[in-house]
Amino acid sequence: MAIIIKTTGKAIPKKIMHNSDFPASLDTSDEWIRSHTGIGSRYIASEEDTSASLGAEACKQVLANGNLNPQDIDLIICATATAEYQGFPSNACLIQKELGAKNAACFDLSAACSGFLYAIDTAAALMERHGRRYALVCGTEVLSKIIDWQDRSTCVLFGDGAGAALLENTFDNSKRGIGSVILGSDGTGYDALYMADHLKMNGRTVYNFAVGVITETVKSLLQKENINMEDVDLVVCHQANKRILEAAAKRLNADMGKFICNMENYGNTSAASIPITLDDLRLQGKLTEGTTIITAGFGAGLTWGGAVIRF
Ligand code: ACO
Repeated sequence: MAIIIKTTGKAIPKKIMHNSDFPASLDTSDEWIRSHTGIGSRYIASEEDTSASLGAEACKQVLANGNLNPQDIDLIICATATAEYQGFPSNACLIQKELGAKNAACFDLSAACSGFLYAIDTAAALMERHGRRYALVCGTEVLSKIIDWQDRSTCVLFGDGAGAALLENTFDNSKRGIGSVILGSDGTGYDALYMADHLKMNGRTVYNFAVGVITETVKSLLQKENINMEDVDLVVCHQANKRILEAAAKRLNADMGKFICNMENYGNTSAASIPITLDDLRLQGKLTEGTTIITAGFGAGLTWGGAVIRF
């Protein structure tokens, strides 16, 4: 059975915050942020926006793009670290309510910035096991609500937004869709990046971990599929830091031109970054039939993941 990404959508808050908008008291600069991360601006959720409302908006777009009724959806998985309610109900149930997707089973998934990749593999497995046709997989975050705005080492990095994908089980054996997947975790690194009263991070540790796992994940995926970098059109990584992607591309001896970078406009939107990027690529007409992409993500946990996806 092939599980394809049929279409995508996203929801981005209206308010844009440029590097130059940080107060002088933070003692940072556009030059520092750009040169260390590649980030130029990010979007910030309004007081009324929640990760569930942004997620619902992204999923509505997906339904419109896919020309589907909400009742056609069998499953909604929401990857988020900033759910509207702490504990329960899940964002996925709130999204279901907004859409009227009454036939869907709904739950949230916690794997931080790797969440979207964990969620598409989980959705694909459930769709195959239960013979279901359509799933909505959403990554959504309002990180601006959990960061310490006085901590210049973290608050300049993150942004808000939501992205979503419609997965379809084609019930055939075509080569399209989600191919090899890698998921991994290392709980011994739990304290490199965690959320207590605010987000706390050891930037250097996460940086080194990220370069290493992206490199190894891409290598392993190429090996599993018995392909090489020339067979891959685009590499869509979690958008945390341009330097991480440059270092990984160098280690892979790969053309940096294949590595998509949009953190300049969005900052790091955690679980939302990969689906937002996929939606941008779709709108740019870059996910046409025959396109092969590799995705790779990393985040708190520590967690990582990657997938080969053929359009
Ligand atoms: N503006 C100006 N100076 C700053 C800022 C800032 N915003 N932030 C830190 N600095 C200073 C530090 O205080 C330090 O000063 P010092 O030398 O006087 O002590 C100096 O800059 C260098 O700090 P480093 O932390 O060593 O800078 P580094 O080059 O490592 O860059 C960064 C920091 C950008 C955070 C980098 O480590 C990184 O990208 N790490 C990975 C982060 C990441 O990807 N996180 C998210 C992944 S998981 C998820 O998405 C949830």
